[in-house]
Amino acid sequence: MKDAAPKTIYLKDYTPFGFTVEEVHLTFDLAPGATRVKSRIRFAPRDGADDRRFFLHGEDLTLIRAAIDGKEVQPTLTAEGLTCDVPDAAFTWEAEVEIDPAGNTALEGLYMSNGMYCTQCEAEGFRKITYYPDRPDVMSTFTVRINGDLPVMLSNGNPVEQGEGWAEWHDPWPKPAYLFALVAGDLVAHSDSFTTCSGKEVDLNLWVRPGDEGKCAWGMEALKKSMRWDEEVYGREYDLEVFNIVAVDDFNMGAMENKGLNIFNSSAVLASPETATDANFERIEAIIAHEYFHNWTGNRITCRDWFQLCLKEGLTVFRDAQFTADMRSEPVKRISDVIDLRARQFPEDNGPLAHPVRPESFQEINNFYTATVYEKGAEVIGMLKRLVGDAAYAEALDLYFARHDGEACTIEDWLRVFEDVTGRDLGQFKRWYSQAGTPRLKVEEDWQDGTYTLTFTQTTPPSAANPEPQPQVIPINLGLLGPNGDEVKETETLEMTEARQAFTFTGLSAKPVPSILRGFSAPVILDRDSSTAERAFLLAHDTDPFNRWEAGGALARATLNAMALEDAAPDAAYLDGMLAVLRDDTLDPAYRALMLALPGQSELAAMQAEAGHTPDPMAIWTACETLRQALAQHAQDTLPRIWETCRIDAPYRPDAEQSGKRALAGAVLSLITRLDGGALAASQYGSADNMTLQVSALSCLLKAGKGQAETAAFYAQWQHDRLVIDKWFMLQVLQATPETAAATAKALTEHADFNWKNPNRFRAVLGALTGNHAGFHAADGAGYALLADWLIRLDPVNPQTTARMCAAFQTWRRYDAGRQGLIRAQLDRIAAQPGLSRDTTEMITRIQG
Ligand code: PHE
Ligand code: ZN
Repeated sequence: MKDAAPKTIYLKDYTPFGFTVEEVHLTFDLAPGATRVKSRIRFAPRDGADDRRFFLHGEDLTLIRAAIDGKEVQPTLTAEGLTCDVPDAAFTWEAEVEIDPAGNTALEGLYMSNGMYCTQCEAEGFRKITYYPDRPDVMSTFTVRINGDLPVMLSNGNPVEQGEGWAEWHDPWPKPAYLFALVAGDLVAHSDSFTTCSGKEVDLNLWVRPGDEGKCAWGMEALKKSMRWDEEVYGREYDLEVFNIVAVDDFNMGAMENKGLNIFNSSAVLASPETATDANFERIEAIIAHEYFHNWTGNRITCRDWFQLCLKEGLTVFRDAQFTADMRSEPVKRISDVIDLRARQFPEDNGPLAHPVRPESFQEINNFYTATVYEKGAEVIGMLKRLVGDAAYAEALDLYFARHDGEACTIEDWLRVFEDVTGRDLGQFKRWYSQAGTPRLKVEEDWQDGTYTLTFTQTTPPSAANPEPQPQVIPINLGLLGPNGDEVKETETLEMTEARQAFTFTGLSAKPVPSILRGFSAPVILDRDSSTAERAFLLAHDTDPFNRWEAGGALARATLNAMALEDAAPDAAYLDGMLAVLRDDTLDPAYRALMLALPGQSELAAMQAEAGHTPDPMAIWTACETLRQALAQHAQDTLPRIWETCRIDAPYRPDAEQSGKRALAGAVLSLITRLDGGALAASQYGSADNMTLQVSALSCLLKAGKGQAETAAFYAQWQHDRLVIDKWFMLQVLQATPETAAATAKALTEHADFNWKNPNRFRAVLGALTGNHAGFHAADGAGYALLADWLIRLDPVNPQTTARMCAAFQTWRRYDAGRQGLIRAQLDRIAAQPGLSRDTTEMITRIQG
């Protein structure tokens, strides 16, 4: 049990550990309820260290024996670890502990999933395996011996030797304990190999449970593409003889970059055309790349402490986004990322959970694996690259790898390589790492005697985390269009550094139309009172694909807000603009599919709240329904033709081209379903030979209040496949009407297959409920109560997943007094649970504000 008063850890208190670890030897005697872990660790006093207290982290361990230089010692044990008197010179520490993998439901440390042993050590899970200085700045080589009667037994690094009932592994690269991994079970490998740029042969294995062999090919393809890309684009070669990936069903996150032994949530790696959608395939490709790229950005160069998490995560997300843009379509990737940023990071940055990209304090580090650290962290790197240019970025990265290989670094180290390469002072830029909150950028324009002036004002709303925000460096990509739609000024990066700053353009023959923040060149909220006519103009003419999409989104937001707040009718400019886009066969189908999607309902609620209105989730939902219906009618003559152009006669491939066509066909089908009552969707369902078509048809039917027979058939067909059944749970909740969402979710939690201890299944139902905006926020509070019931139930079992899902309540202040009261009551009820975990306590306290 954790102690009652949670401790806050501060960045400013960082002190290095007083010892270095020269090498670590571990021996595991595996047994489900009583695994023995023997450690032999060589410690040496660190030069110049003044703190010589010997403290090792350890949690939920039973100490059997401890010795120093072969002599038994009696350390002082606490709930968090042990202290011990140690010699003044280098010494060998030995310990034997007993742990209980079978009883470990938190999925952190060594645990069991379907009879298979596996580990999760980031951030602070290694201390649940043995006593150790469990902090990322302590790096060492590891040798691991596993004794057990399982057919496959894996750890980090290269295989040394194995025999009947044992296997030994050695990882020659010094690493922090959070990258340790062990897997043992009845697994089969999908194997391949890769020849690196210097001609070294690497064995590649994707380990899965028997029966899942048919779902490995895509993950393996993605791995090989990632390895090649990192060589070609970043000059990074792989550094071990083998690269292993393991799929596990019970996992809190997407995947983990353990050195040479990545462990993946099975949903993030297993796919076949019959069981996975195009979106699943794309996500798998991105996550494989992400984890692989960590080998250099995270593993070879790691973080000094957990405050520096964005050092590895922001950079690795940025790298995986570049990879996806290269493999697929750059604008489509950029637009998708901005949709995600606005849906997940903006609410965080502008609510009670706001924290800087590099936080300065925390109680539970697991609560800081956030959209801010990851996605805003990646945006910050994108801005840096934009400001210094591609060539300097490449040079800075080379210097980063050369200078810091094998080290545990800080954001200061990272920024210094850019300063050294470019001679720039990045002092002001660094505010992106220390200031929370999304800056708002107001724009005023002026046209006089052939001179065009844009004046920008930036403000970041003060918050508890950031009471006195200072101006940030904002790269504003700008282009200018002439009245006939021609581009009169190509994209240029304006560098804004002041609170208010004007930029002047001369030599123009007519007043231009500005295209501001092209490519979403900075993670800010652009505040511009532009007219419907100007938006329609940009939607028709902008040469920047991002801003063209953005113009469509601006039209949609404007009409939806007017419909929800003032009962206005759908705006003809939006309908005409969308019809033109839909018909334009020169546009990438994937791009057109993104254009057709409406802004998120939660995002609309946020905008209304920021504009001083009290958002009504039901009115927003109704506006969206009405607008979709109007668009379906407006486009009815065109829809069948577009549907035809999306036909694919080749065998299924989850590549950009085919999945783009299927995405557009899916968007069109959802409109057609509003006109034909579901006839086409039912027929697509009946003939679907891949999961993308099956899911899009079933979604349309459920949305139309139909599909009972298909829902039952889907279950019967896929009962044996967990990942597909997750979709079955999720779709029913996501597509439910506002009135029925909570009841639908509740009924599904009573289904025999609702294995709530499995995070994927839990999220499939409760996560989907929070994603159904009007359903979750139903005025009677049933959605809030159901989520709280289940968070209370899950917390003692799996605090990490519970805490993450508390974030669904973070937007409570936006809504009316009735809803606020209902949410507050649930927050109080959760907070009052005896023995509530540190993770959930911290989240609830912050959300309550
Ligand atoms: N480091 C992992 C990633 O970004 C995420 C993760 C964090 C996984 C903590 C498990 C636990 O890829
Ligand atoms: Zn990562």
